[in-house]
Amino acid sequence: MNYQWYPGHMTKAKRMMQENIKLIDLIIEVVDARIPFSSRNPDIDELGKNKARLILLNKSDLADERENEKWAEYFKSKGYYVVKLNAKSGAGIKGVLPVVMESCKEKLERDRKRGIINRPIRAMVVGIPNVGKSTFINAFAGKACTKTGNKPGVTKGKQWIRINKNVELLDTPGILWPKFEDQSVGAKLAMVGSIKDEILNLEELSLELLKYLHESYEGVLTKRYDIEESENALSMLEQVAENRKCIQKGNELDYLKAANILLEEFRNGKIGKITLEKPEA
Ligand code: G4P
Repeated sequence: MNYQWYPGHMTKAKRMMQENIKLIDLIIEVVDARIPFSSRNPDIDELGKNKARLILLNKSDLADERENEKWAEYFKSKGYYVVKLNAKSGAGIKGVLPVVMESCKEKLERDRKRGIINRPIRAMVVGIPNVGKSTFINAFAGKACTKTGNKPGVTKGKQWIRINKNVELLDTPGILWPKFEDQSVGAKLAMVGSIKDEILNLEELSLELLKYLHESYEGVLTKRYDIEESENALSMLEQVAENRKCIQKGNELDYLKAANILLEEFRNGKIGKITLEKPEA
């Protein structure tokens, strides 16, 4: 699911979000656990001030478990509730509801004092494209009730999905833009496959990935591709091309094909459970 954001789209998405935020108690923000910083929207904290906040570290199955823990601690230290999740398999999904209740305990207490009972918590799922918002809504609601491939912002006629007697969820997620003014953010979004491949220089991207993997996860490339790791990313790409028989006409090495293999295998988790950014950075 790839997106082209224009100023008009962004203004519209933001306006929709502001409208919908008035109706809800809790913002459930989905981020990609491999890039928890780069997969956040730059304006979400401003938009969501005064609301209960829950961050779902989704696709945690593809990320480094030690870093998942560190990110969870990091976000908790900033005042968010956090749940690690694999929305696709459903692992961790049972842990979401108790945390939703916990995150809104002040509201429930306020309601109780005013004599309001049984008013459900209302929540909205938000995030940049491709982090797994729709997959999460489907898994959380327990049935296929949202469509994937949706439009920025939220539909006009609001539909609430009843999760149980205590919790309701806006049926359509709020889609927000990433921080793409930052180049390294763009590269990371591209590495995990959240930016259209056609508009990217895949060879350059694969070189950056090779460099990062060698520096931060030494040995994974040797294990997967049987190559000699070094500072020289081009030489590593060349070895991947050789070992995977990426040959083009004239018996030349096909670097683009090797880059595609590398990116595809990284995105599918075949190279390992890898996190591309660390909270301490
Ligand atoms: P969005 O609404 O935020 O745009 O994301 P969506 O749910 O459409 O999910 C985007 C892709 O991420 C989907 O893959 C989905 O299956 C996958 N995904 C979502 N959550 C997880 C997770 O926790 N772990 C893993 N490994 N993948 C997850 P797709 O390529 O579009 O489809 P498919 O390959 O699942 O058929």
